[in-house]
Amino acid sequence: MTLNSGTVNVGIIGTGRIADSELVPALNQVVDARFWSVLSRDKQRASAFATKHNAQSKHNAYESLAAFLADPSLDAVIIATPDGLHAKQAVACARAGKHVLLEKPIATTVEAAKEICNACLEERVKLAIAYHMRWHHGHRQVASMLHSGRFGKPHYARAMWTWKAQDNSNWRAHSEHGRWWGLAGVGTHCVDFLRWMLLPACGEVLSTTALIDKSHYGGPHDETASVSMQFASGVVADIVTSVMFKATSRFEICCSNAVIVGEGTLATNGGGIITINDEPLDFKLVNPYVGEIQNFVNAIAGNTRVEVSGAEGLRNIEILLEADS
Ligand SMILES: NC(=O)c1ccc[n+]([C@@H]2O[C@H](COP(=O)([O-])OP(=O)(O)OC[C@H]3O[C@@H](n4cnc5c(N)ncnc54)[C@H](OP(=O)(O)O)[C@@H]3O)[C@@H](O)[C@H]2O)c1
Repeated sequence: MTLNSGTVNVGIIGTGRIADSELVPALNQVVDARFWSVLSRDKQRASAFATKHNAQSKHNAYESLAAFLADPSLDAVIIATPDGLHAKQAVACARAGKHVLLEKPIATTVEAAKEICNACLEERVKLAIAYHMRWHHGHRQVASMLHSGRFGKPHYARAMWTWKAQDNSNWRAHSEHGRWWGLAGVGTHCVDFLRWMLLPACGEVLSTTALIDKSHYGGPHDETASVSMQFASGVVADIVTSVMFKATSRFEICCSNAVIVGEGTLATNGGGIITINDEPLDFKLVNPYVGEIQNFVNAIAGNTRVEVSGAEGLRNIEILLEADS
């Protein structure tokens, strides 16, 4: 697909929490891109969102997916809607020739994830999955040192990320548009983070076991989950997620020469503390969503590979599905 101009025009589907608080404010800081238009189920909500975030198209607010995608000046779309809606919307974007930055998790079934990947491949549009933890500056330094072998051999890792839901009214708690609750909200990030860190030294995740508590609300989806993954090398990594309590997020990666600990870095703001063998790691406080969208825009403009592909998104949900089968 040829760009309309030197600038990538990016639209968004969904006007919810992450679109409003993180994604579009970040998009407005990305170089060589501009916030172009928005699709909502409600035209007034779309217009208010377009005005608030300064959408640049003359026709910048839509309630029809077909009309939104018919705009020839729209180059790319960020999809920030409930997980169960991702596949239909992403395939429609690809078939309209628009590049796709899709919020995590890619989809709620393997079949739907494969359909997205195939459509993007067939239409030759970029597909990136929004795992913003990869653009935390401290995480990037840890990944680079770990992958260079500086910490020695990895032996064990774990990540815990939780929040406290006020009730079970959110779509993630129900089957209509969700498939997991805490595991989709934050667990998928933990899986991506640990695979990103460990894959080069440890190979792919070969087996997954889990214990899942659904007892408080008694609904279909995980409230608190403990998931263990074993990598090809034999290394085991654990994740803990919950929607029942808010604890400071934490990761630990234990290698033969170093133990790396992160506190409060699994979050939205690029902050927290990282220590390596109890010594603090110096890193810059950068907005990880800006890095994530910049990587997507650069891949479109330069026709290069995105950092987190659809295949990564697919493998991630295979693990989640195995955990909560
Ligand atoms: N990477 C991250 O840090 C991060 C953080 C949070 C969420 N996410 C991901 O982003 C996506 C959206 O999550 P969110 O927390 O922003 O959700 P949210 O606050 O519920 O917003 C979702 C938006 O999707 C649109 N939508 C369309 N059909 C809908 C339906 N049937 N039910 C509900 N909403 C519908 C709505 O916008 P309109 O009313 O305008 O149509 C709604 O505001 C999810 O895939 C989630 O996993 C990522």
